[in-house]
Amino acid sequence: MKKKLIAGILAAGMALGLAACGGSASGSSSEASSSAASGSTAASTEGVSGAAASTSASSTVSAGDMKLVEPGKLHMATNASFPPYESTTDDGGFTGIDIDIATKIASDLGLELVVDDMDFSSVITSVQSGKSDIAMAGMTVNEERQKNLDFTESYANSIQSVIVSKDSDIKSIDDLKGKKIGCQEGTTGYIDASDTEENGGFGEENVTAYQDGATAVNALMQGKVDAVIIDNEPAKAYVAANDGLTILDTNYDEEEYAIGIAKDNKALYDAVNSEIKKLKEDGTIKGIIDKYIKE
Ligand code: ARG
Repeated sequence: MKKKLIAGILAAGMALGLAACGGSASGSSSEASSSAASGSTAASTEGVSGAAASTSASSTVSAGDMKLVEPGKLHMATNASFPPYESTTDDGGFTGIDIDIATKIASDLGLELVVDDMDFSSVITSVQSGKSDIAMAGMTVNEERQKNLDFTESYANSIQSVIVSKDSDIKSIDDLKGKKIGCQEGTTGYIDASDTEENGGFGEENVTAYQDGATAVNALMQGKVDAVIIDNEPAKAYVAANDGLTILDTNYDEEEYAIGIAKDNKALYDAVNSEIKKLKEDGTIKGIIDKYIKE
């Protein structure tokens, strides 16, 4: 699983004399993503039943066995430095795709959404330890995380992107070898980039973990790192907001975003997972994504 992202991009520009590994690397990655993706197609056939939740919200959800941090509230653990999925607004609120989807889920369940903003690396533990109800943070499903939380079916796809300055001599993934790379701590971008070269990474010693994506991008602007690896939509948002940056053309493997729920909270899992199915099927999620991402 770890190999997934960087192996994917290395396979795209196999100038390292490792061509023989290319086949196995892409094989393992497709296997990894299909396990995370399973369930996404089955949804549409039975999604209608999930719709009941919206019409008679509070009675459909049996409040009895659904554990919530606070009665009547749905606490969402996130890291709001990840536009367009979640970011803070000038007036101290939150905006983004995840915020809108979670607001809709909460209201369908008769709950009020509360955003718990924290470091990305605390999001999973916050839900595991019962401080927040759901983990929703543009969070990629991977095997390691599935050991700690149950994930709904996915609601969005992503790929990892490489941001460099426009005048950089880094033109391809191969040029990243031996360069200084910045990532957000705890992310799949960091996990994969900091892996060993033989596993398709660039070596821990070459990768710096920053508290959030914005800080990593600042480090790039200040010349402290040569590149930032981060999910493609935040990458586009950061490049649009800062002059002099560009995104490399790469061929990454896809990652899938989903909502994580504590393993001992089956009733909440079922309620949120049927919501995701319903909101995918009735086009609500697509509408929200299209509102924030204009191609
Ligand atoms: N998709 C990546 C991951 O799951 C990055 C997510 C970062 N999210 C955030 N809200 N800062 O590791």
